Amino acid sequence: MPRQETQFTQVNNRPVGAKAQTLKMLKERVMTSEFIIAAHISEVPSGGQLRVEFPDQEILICNVAGEYFAIDYYCSHDALGLEGGTIENDCITCPYHGAEFCLRSGKVMASPAWQDIRVYPVIVEDDLIKLCIKPA
Ligand code: FES
Repeated sequence: MPRQETQFTQVNNRPVGAKAQTLKMLKERVMTSEFIIAAHISEVPSGGQLRVEFPDQEILICNVAGEYFAIDYYCSHDALGLEGGTIENDCITCPYHGAEFCLRSGKVMASPAWQDIRVYPVIVEDDLIKLCIKPA
């Protein structure tokens, strides 16, 4: 089910308002990205994590106080699962060797990993968690 477009006024094909650029970017992302249903919200309660599999990748969905994040399932250090890692200050700690990754950016915050992981846009519609898994 395609996401509804954000409505806003346009003048000369440019959105108007304080957040015009953000809305324009949101509109473009909605129009050019493909969101896929990954789970029902009941599968990822607050504080929960869920592994979801797609044909070419596995993603970990994390619910942090009602905010959903989607990241690569596997740690970039030794390709072991990040599932079950503790989450604090928007960072997940790999349960194996302790590398930390920012849930918002995927950036490595603590060794032994040195390579970032990917993060994926998430939207929730009709109680469904949808991910954009296409490369940016
Ligand atoms: S596998 Fe994650 S830190 Fe080693």
